[in-house]
Amino acid sequence: MIIAVDGTAASGKGTLARRLAAHYRLPHLDTGLLYRAVGRKMLDNGSDFADTDAAIALAQNFAPAWLVDGRLRGNEASVAASRVAAIPAVRTALRAFQQQFAGQPGGAVLDGRDIGTVIAPNADIKLWVTATPEVRARRRFLELKPKRPDLEEGTILDELIERDNRDAPNMTMAPDAYLLDTSQMDIEQVFRSAVEYIDGRRKA
Ligand code: DC
Repeated sequence: MIIAVDGTAASGKGTLARRLAAHYRLPHLDTGLLYRAVGRKMLDNGSDFADTDAAIALAQNFAPAWLVDGRLRGNEASVAASRVAAIPAVRTALRAFQQQFAGQPGGAVLDGRDIGTVIAPNADIKLWVTATPEVRARRRFLELKPKRPDLEEGTILDELIERDNRDAPNMTMAPDAYLLDTSQMDIEQVFRSAVEYIDGRRKA
């Protein structure tokens, strides 16, 4: 069973994907980490983000060991990721790794932006997870506030909207995806709603 969990930034799709992977005992790949790893290398190499050839060369030499880096979760890597993810040849270079992961015996859960449309268009289950920008900004604000008391919610909202716009060309809800608008739900409700949908589909 391949489960594709796509959606917007800070929508809760990563948490949902992890929960589903544990529930169905499937391996999980957070595909955003691949773009973060390439973006992080660009930063570490001091490369200019306008140098698309440098980003493409890195993506073509991507190694899974790059994913083991605590810094990938940071905001710097996130911004860098969205820059390299906008380069079509970077996306192409990272495709085979994701498709191999999806194609392993027994299946897998992958979360990202284009899993249900590009990476695994034949996925058994496709979920599209989103929430209003205001709700997503609020969640990120509450998460980051303890470490960054100077942070303003309005700044996070502006950044999220900017990120949505940059990700938009590679972020399309598959026509056969199940929409989960998490604006009014907590993670437990999102998880239960997804499991109900998946189990229903499996029975059918
Ligand atoms: O989900 P995330 O925040 O870790 O993603 C980081 C960036 O990578 C984000 O700007 C979107 C991009 N991305 C993508 O274009 N395609 C994916 N499958 C996953 C992430």
